[in-house]
Amino acid sequence: MRVQSAITALAVLVTTVAAEDRVSYDGYKVFRIDTHDNSEEIHRLIDGLHAVEVSCGESDHFELAVAPEDVEAFQALGLDASLLSEDLSVDLELEGPVESFYESEESNYTIEVRQQALPALSWFSSYRPYADHATFFSQMQAAFPQNSRIFNVGNSHQGRSIYGIHLWGPNGQGNRPAIYFHGTVHAREWISAPVVEYLTWQLINGYRNNDALVRSFFNKYDFYIVPFVNPDGFVHTQSSDRLWRKNRQPRSGTSCVGTDGNRNWNFQWSTPGGASTSPCSETYRGQAAGDTPEIRALTTFTNSLRTRGIKLFIDWHSYGQYILLPYGYNCQARAPNHNAQMSVAAGYSSAIRAVSGTRFTYGPSCSTLYATTGSSPDYMGGAMGAEYAWTVELRPGPGSGSSGFVLPAGQIAASGAEQWEGIKYVLNTI
Ligand code: ARG
Ligand code: ZN
Repeated sequence: MRVQSAITALAVLVTTVAAEDRVSYDGYKVFRIDTHDNSEEIHRLIDGLHAVEVSCGESDHFELAVAPEDVEAFQALGLDASLLSEDLSVDLELEGPVESFYESEESNYTIEVRQQALPALSWFSSYRPYADHATFFSQMQAAFPQNSRIFNVGNSHQGRSIYGIHLWGPNGQGNRPAIYFHGTVHAREWISAPVVEYLTWQLINGYRNNDALVRSFFNKYDFYIVPFVNPDGFVHTQSSDRLWRKNRQPRSGTSCVGTDGNRNWNFQWSTPGGASTSPCSETYRGQAAGDTPEIRALTTFTNSLRTRGIKLFIDWHSYGQYILLPYGYNCQARAPNHNAQMSVAAGYSSAIRAVSGTRFTYGPSCSTLYATTGSSPDYMGGAMGAEYAWTVELRPGPGSGSSGFVLPAGQIAASGAEQWEGIKYVLNTI
């Protein structure tokens, strides 16, 4: 009894501390700022404000959420800005609560059933706590025991396993070119993991049900799917700051935390203009290429896929609804098979749109959005010879400025479904 109440008291204490530690966006006002080609100067002006950028990256404007105490100072700058939202915290709530699947009755599985059945599709009706995702993947693996395995590429800075699922067909494991997906390098882009989970679910389900098209994919390819490239960042978005982007690695000489994993790959890493050298920036590239534990581990793993080759790599992000082709580091650089990539991307975009009208824009990454150096698709295409190496920016669309990183839970399944149609087109065409 006494132990029980002590535990309860402790739990209450822990909850209170956690709640107090959580970054609040109450009263943050979101502005759209037109840059008039003056982006650098504007960024210098807003540098000291308590504010967070919530843009998807279009070049002539950006969205900024400003803390209530700095709204006046922001307005005094006299920028060409319009108010998009009175209160960011209200917009963030549209996402819906994070709900456990495996601890709820909703999942309703006995251990035995779990061993054979795929997770119920109600998995996709809410965002889920980090720990549930690993259970989800082990349940998927158990439902496909002869044709899959869970692998670990290494550990994150805080020691979490960076895991993935490998799927193969009748030719056995590791004998076909790779279809290779990464999710959640950017912690706040929550829709990324459920979408790769949806694709994985459909692949396994199709194979188990002898779907001819899905079986044809398994005749040609092995699949390697890593849902959380940045697990520490993702956990941080669930416990402390919903809008955190980078990893959680500290650096000496600064109190700023985190490196952008999508600027840390060893390809054109030091080319200027596509990343930041400042540890406080959201696009901090690190001190050297591959100096984050996450990207170092993934670099080694990726190298192991070269024996059979990488047919298609996709880094899944949000938001803006874009299909971005090589390259990011230079707006003139093109892949040797650029025309083929454009044509496959066009068909992919049409296949997505045919489902429920969602429009995805496609084109080379730098010229369509903005320059990025040390990004994963550039590394996969430029250094690893991946035939197709893309970034996909999922829902919502580019006009969602105030809350683009939160997609209402009611759209998870629809987002997955349109990507499944798109990816079937891609896999059937390349
Ligand atoms: N959200 C991604 C990032 O900032 C998008 C990268 C798109 N690539 C590009 N060259 N703009 O890393
Ligand atoms: Zn991103």
